[in-house]
Amino acid sequence: MWWLTKRKKVDIISAGWLEGMTDIHCHLIPAVDDGSRSLDESRQLIEAMRSIGIQRIITTPHIYRRYPHNDSNTLHEGLERILPDLSDLGVPLTLGAEYMMDEGFETQLTKPLLTLGSSKYLLIETSFVGAPLDLYRLIQLVISAGAIPMLAHPERYLYMGDEEYSRLRGAGCAFQLNLFSLTGMYGEQVEKRAQQLLERGFYNFVGTDTHRIDFFRKTISSAKTYARYREPIRSLISNNQTLVASLE
Ligand SMILES: [Fe+2]
Repeated sequence: MWWLTKRKKVDIISAGWLEGMTDIHCHLIPAVDDGSRSLDESRQLIEAMRSIGIQRIITTPHIYRRYPHNDSNTLHEGLERILPDLSDLGVPLTLGAEYMMDEGFETQLTKPLLTLGSSKYLLIETSFVGAPLDLYRLIQLVISAGAIPMLAHPERYLYMGDEEYSRLRGAGCAFQLNLFSLTGMYGEQVEKRAQQLLERGFYNFVGTDTHRIDFFRKTISSAKTYARYREPIRSLISNNQTLVASLE
């Protein structure tokens, strides 16, 4: 009966949806933002990510006012410091960043940019309460700097309406789904918004936005969504692979 299949939820981890995935959004450099707090936690996180099928990672520390020391230089140093201790895990780890479009963003754009794994894509976010008044000017600045803006977790900006999503896409933004938005990690409203955006073909890429080990273990212990999303999700995972392959 088609309506039962349509409404059936599956555990995306045990169903193997994430096999071979490259994660392009997570916070694994210890103690530089609100992600991993120690080398040991980074290790546990990578092991847990590997256990669900993730084979390669671009880690994306926050760059915004709250973490004034974070820039291309310090974050490259931070990654170099931990790589020797994590190389035995067999999960290649490279660098990007997640830029908040705050008062300091324009200044950040004048510095060397931490695009995703040195690709053309710059991961950007807005606050969860509202966008900057000059949002479209800032997006244009990213493009003028030679990068393609990739909006992190648009489904989490509940202040946005349909028109805004379309306008952002028209302005040249790629959209990155937080995978676990679809499994209810951020509540029902965000889950519904993610479903709507996925069904309407808004997303280009997918990431986990992993921060802390306890939360991550809880998230993956029960990660269910509708079986009909398997193909769209596999297609986003494939786009992640294409992005990474273009760097080799
Ligand atoms: Fe993030």
